Amino acid sequence: MRYWMVNRRGRSIALIGMMGAGKSSVGRCLHRRTGFVLHDTDEIVSANFGMPIPEIFTEHGEEKFREAETGALRHMRTEEQMIIVTGGGIVLRKENVDVLRSQAVIVWLDADEKTLFARASQKRNRPLLQTKHPRKAFSQILGSRRTLYANIADIRIDTSALTDEEVAVAILTKLRRMNCKSESLIGTETS
Ligand code: S3P
Repeated sequence: MRYWMVNRRGRSIALIGMMGAGKSSVGRCLHRRTGFVLHDTDEIVSANFGMPIPEIFTEHGEEKFREAETGALRHMRTEEQMIIVTGGGIVLRKENVDVLRSQAVIVWLDADEKTLFARASQKRNRPLLQTKHPRKAFSQILGSRRTLYANIADIRIDTSALTDEEVAVAILTKLRRMNCKSESLIGTETS
């Protein structure tokens, strides 16, 4: 855990984690509570291609999506305080991790596998789960990524039993405890 980094430049907050972790919804809650600018790499990539993520995968392939994802991170304006919502595969490229590390406190939204899968399969917008055996695919992906998430995270939140708002509060509380100058942010909570 890079506590020094949290203390030194705890300005932006990056959310990482598996599909179904709640990154987008929690990102919106954090945005409301902090007023930080919200960037969502999936939304940026989708807007740049002019099509939804599943179509990008079908028409251009995963590699092109990954390149665009890296481009979205690299071209994000960095002078603002940001909430950076990432796609579940952002940790697959070291260059992505380097960008995130240089700009933000990295928060891993985790949950038990059953919960993650249940949430991830609610919508049919996850191309990596459009297989004959989505449950198995999910398990394999999670297995190959858990260590990556764990290695780069400054903070881990188990979201299994929490609402999005509770997760946002848990993040801000942890940041405050870590002396991250977020006392003022906690003060802006509405509930
Ligand atoms: C992906 C997760 C998706 C999206 C793409 C690939 C992944 O984002 O970036 O479908 O590799 O885990 P969410 O984590 O928001 O579902």
